[in-house]
Amino acid sequence: MAIPVAERMSRLGTETAFAVSMEAGQLAAKGKKIYPFHLGDMNIITPSNVIEATVKAINDGKTGYCPTAGIPALRQALAEDLSASRGMSLTADNIAIQPGGKPTIGKFIMVAMNPGDKVLYPNPGYPIYESQVDFHGGVGVPYGFLEGDEGFVLDMEAIRAGIAAGAKILIYNNYQNPTGASSPAEEMEELARLSVDNDLTVLSDEAYFDIRFGGRATSIAGLPGMAERTVILYTFSKKFAMTGWRLGACVAPADFVEAVAKINVNDESCSNHFIQYGALAGLQGDNTEPEAIVATLKKRRDVLVDALNRIDGVKCYRPEATFYLFPNVTGAMERKGFGDVEDLRKACLNDTGVSFCTRRHFGRPLPEETNQYIRFAYSGIDVDQITEGMSKLTEFLS
Ligand SMILES: Cc1ncc(COP(=O)(O)O)c(C=O)c1O
Repeated sequence: MAIPVAERMSRLGTETAFAVSMEAGQLAAKGKKIYPFHLGDMNIITPSNVIEATVKAINDGKTGYCPTAGIPALRQALAEDLSASRGMSLTADNIAIQPGGKPTIGKFIMVAMNPGDKVLYPNPGYPIYESQVDFHGGVGVPYGFLEGDEGFVLDMEAIRAGIAAGAKILIYNNYQNPTGASSPAEEMEELARLSVDNDLTVLSDEAYFDIRFGGRATSIAGLPGMAERTVILYTFSKKFAMTGWRLGACVAPADFVEAVAKINVNDESCSNHFIQYGALAGLQGDNTEPEAIVATLKKRRDVLVDALNRIDGVKCYRPEATFYLFPNVTGAMERKGFGDVEDLRKACLNDTGVSFCTRRHFGRPLPEETNQYIRFAYSGIDVDQITEGMSKLTEFLS
């Protein structure tokens, strides 16, 4: 490259699921039939009230800048919605609207972390945590998951060790991408206790809070002593099938929100103005369409989990939340002579068109890991295509 690039760029990671998507897209362009399980994007239409209110806002001329932290009505409505669902007492001052859920990660790191600070983050996990911590000069301290009876559980020993080593910031993604893990009540309470006792600042990534197939979702921010130390990543992307609209929020104590809003001014001035009226209609409307989205996803989950578990050497939990599966494929790989999970992915893609990510796309693997995992997203593929793709995968792995 002719223009010299700053040293810090060598520390910026990326979301390699997009690279898998491109690889599949190139094969599709050559005429190959693809079964897209790689990206957490959605092939479900945004609720009609959101679309109608957005179009109305455009026609009403809501096309100029708006306040940097978002329109007051949306901040207020979100504060009420989150207070009810998280058991908190939030006001509009606790909300900074963002262009998506993702910006909250980098802004949280910029506001909360000094260079050299140690940050506990989930690994396997959403790769942007590791990327942003590295980029801003922090020291990432990864913690993993263990296979429990019902699903993945947090490796609490690793979290305790990280705290003992001096970590002051914890990133926690309950309803987790990629494992689908949901914390049982005791696990979340233990994490909250550790956070309070050790004076941690917490980022609670709640991107999948509303994509839940049973029971009631809970937030660590609603537990005793947590509201004042927790920043919530909220997004409209998943609940309202609005991934491409780009709207979310950073939810935090008011002084933290002010600091984040100052970054908003520097970065994007404000989030898209007219879409905020659509999101407001979504929050204030009845829940029929968001519930239908979850029902559609649940059917897909069941078909996919059953199909995966029928394959010899594949073990897959049935997560209560998110739209991801993280099957253990160690046995199938041994049986078929694959040593590297990326070789398995590429061979599957080229042979069957079934496209998925692997553990490798969710952070640098930890030295103690011995099992092999792949990740399926079922948010962008219908049941008939899931069934067809799974029969091809089953044959490939037979
Ligand atoms: C765990 C997690 N956090 C945050 C995001 C970002 O969401 P958004 O698309 O709203 O930026 C995602 C998106 O896939 C995610 O999986």
